[in-house]
Order: sequence, then structure tokens, then C-alpha cells
Amino acid sequence: KRNLTTNKIGQNIHFYETTPSTQRIAHLLAQQGKPEGTVVFAEEQTEGKGRLDRSWHSPVGAGIWMSIILRPNLPPQHAPQLTLLAAVAIVRAIESELNITCEIKWPNDILINGKKAVGILTELHAEADRINSVIVGIGINVNTTKEEFPSELQHLATSLSLEKGGDKIDRASLARVIFESLEEMYEKYLEHGFTFIKLLWESYSVSIGKQIIARTISGEIRGYARGITDEGVLMIEESDGKIQYIHSADIEL
Ligand code: BTN
Repeated sequence: KRNLTTNKIGQNIHFYETTPSTQRIAHLLAQQGKPEGTVVFAEEQTEGKGRLDRSWHSPVGAGIWMSIILRPNLPPQHAPQLTLLAAVAIVRAIESELNITCEIKWPNDILINGKKAVGILTELHAEADRINSVIVGIGINVNTTKEEFPSELQHLATSLSLEKGGDKIDRASLARVIFESLEEMYEKYLEHGFTFIKLLWESYSVSIGKQIIARTISGEIRGYARGITDEGVLMIEESDGKIQYIHSADIEL
């Protein structure tokens, strides 16, 4: 197998057979000062965590369940950009490695043929208006079989293997390509800013230009998704032409 070509991401991997959540471990390691690019990987998570307080089903050996520590020297309001960056980097890695077409549902669900195959959860530690660390949690259903998904998820979720016709996919090679793709995007982002990622993100988006419903904690907003702002906030145009800015929501297409 060829070697990993990154300088940081994936150079240091903490491997667990089973753990409640790689996210939890990565938070601890970040607070202990572990370097940027440190990865926590688990074969199985017993309390995998999703966005909006949901759980993330992480059966043993079926997926890539990992959390990556980044330490960008940026103000905390830039953190959503990193979520979108991660989604774009993963889409590009999956498309190039496996030749599967992916779409992104705001902010960071990766869909294949309309079903969710990847979820991303970014959490951050900030001090005095600077990011100390960002924990990018990535869950990829790689070889999950139909039976392994809980029945209530079967019509919503899929795995890369299911979309490829059932053949098992090598998780290590895919993880390597993802590390490389992430590092490349992240370096470009630190040097040149968010603009090119925003353009890429919009090109993969399922929602831009379409009528959607955003369910937020303060209620439902309906309208056309018009794009994302430079901060990674979703813009929805309501029927009266008013633009709503969505920071956190569930999107229905
Ligand atoms: C979502 O779509 O709701 C985000 C899911 C994120 C799941 C990953 S799996 C690795 C990491 N550890 C966790 O407990 N969650 C993230």
C-alpha cells in the first residue's frame, strides 16, 4: 500500500476497538494539547453522537468512525466554514476513490441517491475570541449492510458499499484519501480563505435553488434556498422576498 502523503492529518492516529464516542476522546486529547491533525478512530462506537443531540449508529467494523483535531488560528465564528470544508473534502475523496456521485444537504449531510451516507459533527473550544481547537467528527457508512441499519433508518440511510452493489470497500484506503483531500482543502482555505470552498460546496448542494423547509428551534421557515453566506449560514428566500438566515436547522427537501 502506498504511504500517506499528508504532513499533519492522519500522521497520529489513536485507535480504539470500541469506545462510547471518538468525539469525546478527541475533546480530551485536544485539551491535553495534542497536535493538529491527530485522529481518533474506532471500530465501534457504543454512544455515537450526531447533530442536534441525536445518536449515530456505529456498528463494529462497518464504517469510518473518527474525529480529527484541527487548530486553526481563527475567530470562533469561522467554525461553520470548517464543517462545510470537511463535507466538500469528503465528497471529493469519495467521488475520486469510488466513482460514486454525492450531494450535500446543508449543512453537512452527504447523500447518495437521496440517502444519507455520511454525517459530520464539528465542535469547538475557543478562548478569548480565538479557536483553540475544532473537533471534526466524521461518520461514514462504508460497509454497513441493509440489515445493520435500524429499521426506522432503512429508507433514509445508505452505505457506500450498498451504493456500489454490495462489494466490501477498503476502509483504510478510503481514510487515506480523505486525510489527503482534507489537508489539501484545509491548507488552501488557511491561505486563500473560504471563497473557493463556498463555490465547491454550492456546486455539490442538493438544496440551492430548490424549495425547502427549514425546521429551527423557533419554528419552520419555507422558501427557496438561495445559497450560503461567507460564514456558512444558509439563506432562504421566503415568498414575500424576505431573506432568512439559518444557523442551525433540519432541512426537508
Ligand atoms: C450527524 O449527521 O448528525 C453527524 C454524525 C457524526 C458522527 C461521527 S462518528 C465519529 C464521531 N464520533 C461521534 O460520536 N460522532 C461523530
